[in-house]
Amino acid sequence: MVCYHNHPAVEQSYLLTPEVDLELHTRKPRETDINNNNGGNESIECSRRKSAKGKAKKQKRKEESAKYAMSFAKVEAANKIKDPLDLVAPFRKFERNGISLKVEFFRAQDLTQEMTDWVFDLTKKNMQKLYEESDWGWKDREKLEEMTEEKALYLIALDSESKPVAFTHFRFDMEWDEELVYCYELQVIDEYRRKGIGKFLIQILELLAYKTEMVKVMLTTFKSNKIGETFFMKAMKYTLDETSPEDPVWEETEYKYQILSKEIKPKPTSKTQEEAMQTSPPDILLSQLMSAWNLVELADILLSQLKSV
Ligand SMILES: CC(C)(COP(=O)(O)OP(=O)(O)OC[C@H]1O[C@@H](n2cnc3c(N)ncnc32)[C@H](O)[C@@H]1OP(=O)(O)O)[C@@H](O)C(=O)NCCC(=O)NCCS
Repeated sequence: MVCYHNHPAVEQSYLLTPEVDLELHTRKPRETDINNNNGGNESIECSRRKSAKGKAKKQKRKEESAKYAMSFAKVEAANKIKDPLDLVAPFRKFERNGISLKVEFFRAQDLTQEMTDWVFDLTKKNMQKLYEESDWGWKDREKLEEMTEEKALYLIALDSESKPVAFTHFRFDMEWDEELVYCYELQVIDEYRRKGIGKFLIQILELLAYKTEMVKVMLTTFKSNKIGETFFMKAMKYTLDETSPEDPVWEETEYKYQILSKEIKPKPTSKTQEEAMQTSPPDILLSQLMSAWNLVELADILLSQLKSV
């Protein structure tokens, strides 16, 4: 998986705290604003119209800043959750296709050295060639730094002997001005592929996004990674995100990666239980229910949903 926040505008959006935004957009009228008019009633009329327009703009910016602050707060809150798997407890176990696994949550800084080596080595084994075929190249040090950053979160699937077999590296983050779950890596060891564990881990990310009120799950894939593309686009129903770069028509160059995402329907936060019961469940929940693997899990998901309304 290739996952970088490398858009200049994104870098900027990180720096732009809500306070700075308000500050930037709020300017007192200067003398020249008034002197530039011809004087008399016409100029007063003109400046009045201008100021009404200015007020509307200011209001819009205030609203945008408030929205950004709210999104930012949601991301902060999600990052403070001690163990996000508590929100989706039935998903701590994977029992299907003759395999039994447990899924555990880790922050990058809590991974043992052995586990850090394992996530890095598996990523390198699966991805190095794809990176090298792209114009990005593979750099051990950079990748390791990314994978051990403070914000990096992990779900790791372990077998009955606590041997890791699959993992996802994800983050609660802002991209442009949206709060989301960004999936940085999804890696499964060869022997455990096509058994549903990749799908299971991504479904957990989608549920976490739903529970923490993020607007989407996003990821980046190399266009040359046909298995990854089939997995995300066909099996998991991800689509091209609006921020995915388009190849320029006037040049022969081609972007080697694409940004995919799936929208997560908002969680009904302010409804009474009765209202919520009358509302059809969000798509994400529905898809979880339809693919729930046994009745105990199904009951657990329903119960946890009702409790959280
Ligand atoms: C992509 C990857 C994570 C999939 O994990 P997985 O656990 O094998 O996937 P699942 O068993 O959950 O597959 C779910 C569905 O995805 C599709 N799929 C998965 N692997 C596929 C493959 N090799 N060929 C075609 N379809 C595939 C199938 O529709 C599958 O359902 P099915 O098995 O019932 O037909 C795994 O192949 C992997 O680790 N690849 C190397 C790393 C990588 O490319 N990561 C993704 C970066 S974008």
